[in-house]
Amino acid sequence: MPTTHDIHAYLLEHSPWVNRENTVDGCKNGDPMREVRQAGVAWFGSLDTMKKAHAEGCDLLIVHEPIFWEHSAEEKNWRVIEPGVAKQQFLDDSGLVVLRAHDSWDNWPGIGIRDSWAAGLGLTKRIKEGTVWNLHGMYEIAPQSLREFACFIARKIAPLGEDCVQVIGDPERIVSRPALGVGCIGPDKEMVESGADVMIVCYDGACYWAVRERLAEMGVAIITLEHGTTEMWGMENLCHHLAEAFSPTPFRYYAEHPRTWTVRTVDSSGTCRDLG
Ligand SMILES: [Fe+2]
Repeated sequence: MPTTHDIHAYLLEHSPWVNRENTVDGCKNGDPMREVRQAGVAWFGSLDTMKKAHAEGCDLLIVHEPIFWEHSAEEKNWRVIEPGVAKQQFLDDSGLVVLRAHDSWDNWPGIGIRDSWAAGLGLTKRIKEGTVWNLHGMYEIAPQSLREFACFIARKIAPLGEDCVQVIGDPERIVSRPALGVGCIGPDKEMVESGADVMIVCYDGACYWAVRERLAEMGVAIITLEHGTTEMWGMENLCHHLAEAFSPTPFRYYAEHPRTWTVRTVDSSGTCRDLG
C-alpha cells in the first residue's frame, strides 16, 4: 500500500515545472507516512466532503485548493478561527490525511487542469501555447456568434452543477479563437495579443475592474464561470490517473463542494424566471 508521501513524491517527480522550494503542494494534515487503504479526490475539501470521504473509508483526501481558505503552504490563519476550528477539530479527531495537489496538477500535460478543461469543453484544436508551458492556450472553433458560443459552454458545464455563464461583449459578435487557462490564472494580455477573441475565465481569478473590464477595453469578449467548474474535469482525471498509477489502491472522486445557482429577471419590472 502506498503512503501519502509516496503519492506526493510521484506527483512531484513528474512535475519538473514545480519549484520544490516554493510550492503549496504537500500534506496539510495527518501523518503522510501512514499507509493509504483508500483515497478520495476532490477539487475543494469542504467539511462535508471530508466527513463523507472519511465515513466511506478514505484515510486520505487529495484536494486541489487550500482546505483553510488561504493559498499558502501552511494555511495557518484560519485554523484557529471559526469555521476553521471546527474543521481542524474534525481532522484531529478523524486523523484524515489531506494532501494538496495544485502546482503539480495544474500544468500536467493531457489530463491536468488546463487540458482537461479544454477537452471537456470540446476545444480540441489548440493553435497557440502561452509562454508558461500548459498554463494558457488559444483554440480554433468554427466562427459563430458570441451568444451561440456562450450557450455552447453553458450546455457543456450544466452536468458539473453550474446553471449559467456570464458574458461581456456584443452577443452578435462573431468569435472563433477562444482562450483559456488554469483556474484563477486565466488568459490575459498575452492571449489577446496572440489573436484570441473570447476569454474563458473564472470569477475568483478575473475580478471585474481589475481584469474583465480591462480585457473588454482590449477588445475581447469574456465568458466567466465559477472556479470549481473550470477544474473539476481535471480533478476527475487526477482520480483516474492515481487509481491506475497506484493500483489496486482505490481512489474515489468527490464533487460535493457547494454550488452557486442563479435567479434571472426576465423584464425590467423584475419578474423572476424561477418564480413565474
Ligand atoms: Fe484553482
